[in-house]
Amino acid sequence: MKPVYTLDDLNSRKTLDAGADKPALLAVLGWPVAHSASPRMHQPALDAQGINARYIRLEVEPGQVAEAFTRMRALGFIGCNVTVPHKLDAMAACDDVHSEARLLGAVNTVSFDKDATRGFNTDGPGFARAIDDDFGVSLASLNVAIAGAGGGAGQAIATQCVLSGVGKLVLVNRSIAKLGPLAGRLAELGSATQITTLPFDAASLADQCRMCDLIVNTSSVGLKAGDPSILSAVCLKPEHLVYDTIYQPSVTPLLALAAGMGCRTSNGLSMLLHQGALAFQHWFPAADPKVVLAAMREGLA
Ligand code: ATR
Repeated sequence: MKPVYTLDDLNSRKTLDAGADKPALLAVLGWPVAHSASPRMHQPALDAQGINARYIRLEVEPGQVAEAFTRMRALGFIGCNVTVPHKLDAMAACDDVHSEARLLGAVNTVSFDKDATRGFNTDGPGFARAIDDDFGVSLASLNVAIAGAGGGAGQAIATQCVLSGVGKLVLVNRSIAKLGPLAGRLAELGSATQITTLPFDAASLADQCRMCDLIVNTSSVGLKAGDPSILSAVCLKPEHLVYDTIYQPSVTPLLALAAGMGCRTSNGLSMLLHQGALAFQHWFPAADPKVVLAAMREGLA
């Protein structure tokens, strides 16, 4: 068994399953992928449900996603998760893309069904569940500010906010040029959400953030040691719920600042957990969601 497999390992089942007690039937595709926590939650869930399958990491070069899908289908894989940078390519490589994934502009979950390769996105719904689970409030009831809304995670979460029907959505990004097309797409969804776009140096940033209930960091600021908080203290108030999609480190500079001001905080581990649980449900609709969630939570702990 290997910590990371490649396309070459998909040439035959003999190679793929050498030294393993269960057949590899599920995978996470990424580039790089060695750091992925997905096997840590999916394998315990498979085992808890008594499913004879192995969940592996598969390193796939950019441009090779369609080829990987073809080989996985030929080997009888049930499905896969897709992570950075393949979520757009995965959408193109599916025969059938669920409407929500199309709206979110990315596929993170694939089902190799008999008649078609189907693509879903569980990142957005996973985020909504994480907010519900961590803070005990429905996303729909909140006004939301997203810092770093121009990146992949930011766009998915912004779209989910509109689909959930939040009243006010503040999109903040360093390069403001990325927000125009996003705001245009969100407006086309025809919801009543009031959308504001602004850069970090806007004079109104603090006021706009303080008008919101939930602050979300979807930027990569906070990943590296020495990074500053993506938002300064003037943007925060004690009543804020503050969510950072980063989970390594578990307490980012933003979360430390917010917790110090008395805000309730949470990190991206819960979004990882819930997107995974929703993906599992696509592959195994008859699985017990409570058992799956508990097994995944323990695997990630
Ligand atoms: P993805 O792969 O999700 O698209 P990305 O391109 O690394 O990720 O960008 C993630 C987000 O982090 C973007 O919103 C990015 O801002 P820009 O669109 O302006 O590039 C944001 N980001 C990264 N470094 C940043 C920094 N130093 N200050 C503010 N935002 C930053």
